[in-house]
Amino acid sequence: MERTILITGGAGFIGSHVVRRLVTRYPQYRIINLDALTYAGNLENLRDVENAPNYTFVKCDIRDAEGLKKVFAEHKPAGVIHLAAESHVDRSISDPLAFVETNVLGTVTLLNAAREGWKGAFEGKRFYHVSTDEVYGSLHDGGFFTEETAYDPQSPYSASKAASDHFARADGNTYKLPFVVSNCSNNYGSHHFPEKLIPLMINNIRNNKSLPVYGKGENVRDWLWVEDHASAIDTVFHKGVNGETYNIGGHNEWKNIDLVHLLCRIMDKKLGRAEGESAKLISYVTDRAGHDLRYAIDASKIERELGWKPSITFEEGLERTVDWYLANEAWLEHVTSGAYQQYYEAHYAR
Ligand code: NAD
Ligand code: TYD
Repeated sequence: MERTILITGGAGFIGSHVVRRLVTRYPQYRIINLDALTYAGNLENLRDVENAPNYTFVKCDIRDAEGLKKVFAEHKPAGVIHLAAESHVDRSISDPLAFVETNVLGTVTLLNAAREGWKGAFEGKRFYHVSTDEVYGSLHDGGFFTEETAYDPQSPYSASKAASDHFARADGNTYKLPFVVSNCSNNYGSHHFPEKLIPLMINNIRNNKSLPVYGKGENVRDWLWVEDHASAIDTVFHKGVNGETYNIGGHNEWKNIDLVHLLCRIMDKKLGRAEGESAKLISYVTDRAGHDLRYAIDASKIERELGWKPSITFEEGLERTVDWYLANEAWLEHVTSGAYQQYYEAHYAR
């Protein structure tokens, strides 16, 4: 079936994997990637699909109501997969308003544009809001986040994502907008901006720079390979039930310090260093303010109801990720030097 799908945030980490997957798996779809190209958006992530006949890039901010109206009028998408967001907890601590603007105001502006663009004719339409497990807060006494866990966001990032989730559901209730929401655990994989734990550690190990572990390194995250998240998004978009929420996770909990040691061991081997050499770079630094202790997802609903589960083990995924970073030094150089941003400024100058 021919169909146009609007993906927001498609130049970012997860979005670029979702764009690549849909462009290549569904040649009958037209995929519109809408992205404002902030510091986290990088069209180099999509070099391999940028000339595909079913792919179009539109530079637009999700807070720009007029711009969105034009996109809906011109491309007439039947589905929206909404990933555009400010996504880094540490940045949300220094600048919470930026998170309110993009994650809350931007999502509401996009919801308005979808409703208005679809003019109430919701048959065959779907708004898919992609969110995080961080909206559930921090686990202290065991247990897992289920779809019924009460929201209890603890950082400006998770508070802004929680608000955006509420707006998506409120639109479903108030205007009968057909929507689905998913809440996923921490992702890792290729094209991950090196301000987040795993790519930052890989980059610093490679450059013999210190490895900043927050607090005692005892915080626990549940890691999922980004391509498995992209396959879960594909599954929820096509098979999910309107009005439902699906938790997505890897059943793969790691204390930060254990994960950093594992990365050091893998990198020692890959770089031909003596065992234990990279681990000497570990440095305990001041903890993140309000640092959530543990996230862990119960992903049994999506497995049971939609038949999705992760495809590879963590060891396999991590090895592929390290190999990708070592083989793509130019990508790393460009994002760390900001060269791609200067290119956009020149290329998209009005
Ligand atoms: P990212 O920061 O790598 O990418 C975000 C993308 O959104 C970038 O391309 C950026 O240019 C774009 N963007 C930002 N503000 C915009 C705006 N105002 N208008 C249009 N585009 C804008 O983020 P990510 O890690 O790929 O996360 C994508 C989504 O998945 C987010 O909604 C995030 O909350 C969610 N999520 C992320 C994780 C994770 O581990 N990274 C886990 C669960 C859920
Ligand atoms: P991060 O990748 O920022 O994801 P999130 O905060 O959304 O889970 O951080 C993952 C974990 O790693 C988190 O517990 C904070 C910790 N961390 C460090 O210890 N050092 C670092 O330099 C970074 C970026 C994160």
